[in-house]
Amino acid sequence: MEFSIKSGNPEKQRTACVVVGVFESRKLSAPAEVVDRAAKGYLGDLLRRGDMEGKAGAALLLHNVPGIEADRVLLVGLGKEREFRAKEYRAAIATAVRTLQETGGFDGTVYLTELPVRKMDVAWRIRQAVLVAAETLYRFDQLKSRKDEVRRPLRKLTFCVERRNELAAAEAALKEGQAIAEGMALAKDLANLPSNICTPTHLADRARAMAAEHGMAVEVLERADMEQLAMNTLLSVARGSHEPPKFIVLKHLGGKPGAKPVVLVGKGITFDTGGISLKPAPDMDEMKYDMSGAASVLGTMQAVARLRLPLNVIALVPTTENMPGGRATKPGDVITSMNGLTVEILNTDAEGRLILCDALSYAERFDPDCVIDVATLTGACVIALGHVLSGLLANDDSLARELQDAGLLAHDRVWQLPLLDDYQEQLKSNFADLANIGGRPAGTITAACFLSRFAQKYDWAHLDIAGTAYRSGKEKGSTGRPVPLLTHFLLGRAREADR
Ligand code: BES
Ligand code: MN
Ligand code: ZN
Repeated sequence: MEFSIKSGNPEKQRTACVVVGVFESRKLSAPAEVVDRAAKGYLGDLLRRGDMEGKAGAALLLHNVPGIEADRVLLVGLGKEREFRAKEYRAAIATAVRTLQETGGFDGTVYLTELPVRKMDVAWRIRQAVLVAAETLYRFDQLKSRKDEVRRPLRKLTFCVERRNELAAAEAALKEGQAIAEGMALAKDLANLPSNICTPTHLADRARAMAAEHGMAVEVLERADMEQLAMNTLLSVARGSHEPPKFIVLKHLGGKPGAKPVVLVGKGITFDTGGISLKPAPDMDEMKYDMSGAASVLGTMQAVARLRLPLNVIALVPTTENMPGGRATKPGDVITSMNGLTVEILNTDAEGRLILCDALSYAERFDPDCVIDVATLTGACVIALGHVLSGLLANDDSLARELQDAGLLAHDRVWQLPLLDDYQEQLKSNFADLANIGGRPAGTITAACFLSRFAQKYDWAHLDIAGTAYRSGKEKGSTGRPVPLLTHFLLGRAREADR
């Protein structure tokens, strides 16, 4: 999809379709008023006759509107003006893009981006419009031999801004939106790929390809390297699998030499059977999504590279399958992690924390400004927060705050859970320094408590995306989250670095 920005009158646009909004009940938005005046009250007549109320989700396509240069005018329902906020704005853009795609015109000129959204500026409206448009049009059909082709697909979207002095900010926001959308698409593609294709080796190859394309540095540690480093908890998860594990290190060094890096760590379990603590069969296919943390970190790195952010950002991706097998780790086994803590593995299905803890130890060598890990870590997080908010736990409140704010701006939101020392009790083991599970109560918190033991040397935040990384059921598929959150966080950091 090609995107562009424009400022100009809706009635004068030579385009397949001009898109304007109508509030409930039957109230034309400002750009719709302009169209109506040029069309000598044509829209107003339609509304009075009851063709459109302006309810959210509604769309009315008009042909041959008098006095208008465009082939068509699309009216999009916006709901009540008083209630028009981020969510409603995003829904209106989605309706517009979906309808345009079904309409058969090659391009659309969208005036919804001129609508005021409370607390948000023009840059936000443009970024979100690009993200929602890309989201609406995303398909994963690379594994289907017959793809359902759209006969006359939408090729170009133009987003309008009211004033010429908004153009520069809008253009910059457009670039940001596109980079984030492409990062999300990469994350979705990787996560949607099944585990027989998206193996640890595949992830490593994709990271190498990305590095070559965008001028990033990349290094892939093999099993022997991990043995040298004593990444034993990571290796203990890989033992049951015939696929070789990989540890990917990808670096975007756009900041000042010596500026402390932000380190992103992504859980890369390409399939989680549970291991010897085998999962039940229903919905086990969804455990191909257990590398969504890794996918989102790689997607974010691509966006950061595209935008040439003036920051040092390092991605660490420990990746392996979690399989049962004759050599697999067994419940009760005790393993010495990279930082020397011994871990009693009471449940081999709590494997995410076992690969992340060695990655967190490895992160120390970069003297990080902060470390953020991203993981589909606990079913408990799905129970606590559902599919709306990702879980956030951190050992530093200002980092947590920064991530919450980035999440709000990105519309990729998080909710902080307490990382209290009191919960560490639950990880006590009779046979090792700590156990890898803490029982049913507060499962998301005890998982983060486990990780916190390996993240003592720097500011650290943990995102549990078990409920937000993918959708189940009829619309099954990756969401690309939290690429928007992470990229907005880094954009914020980049603005600071520039000052
Ligand atoms: N990958 C799962 C967590 C998960 C569950 C992600 C559902 C997405 C949807 C993780 O490795 C896991 O199995 N966690 C266990 C931990 C338990 C054994 C302490 C869980 O949540 O049941
Ligand atoms: Mn598991
Ligand atoms: Zn898992």
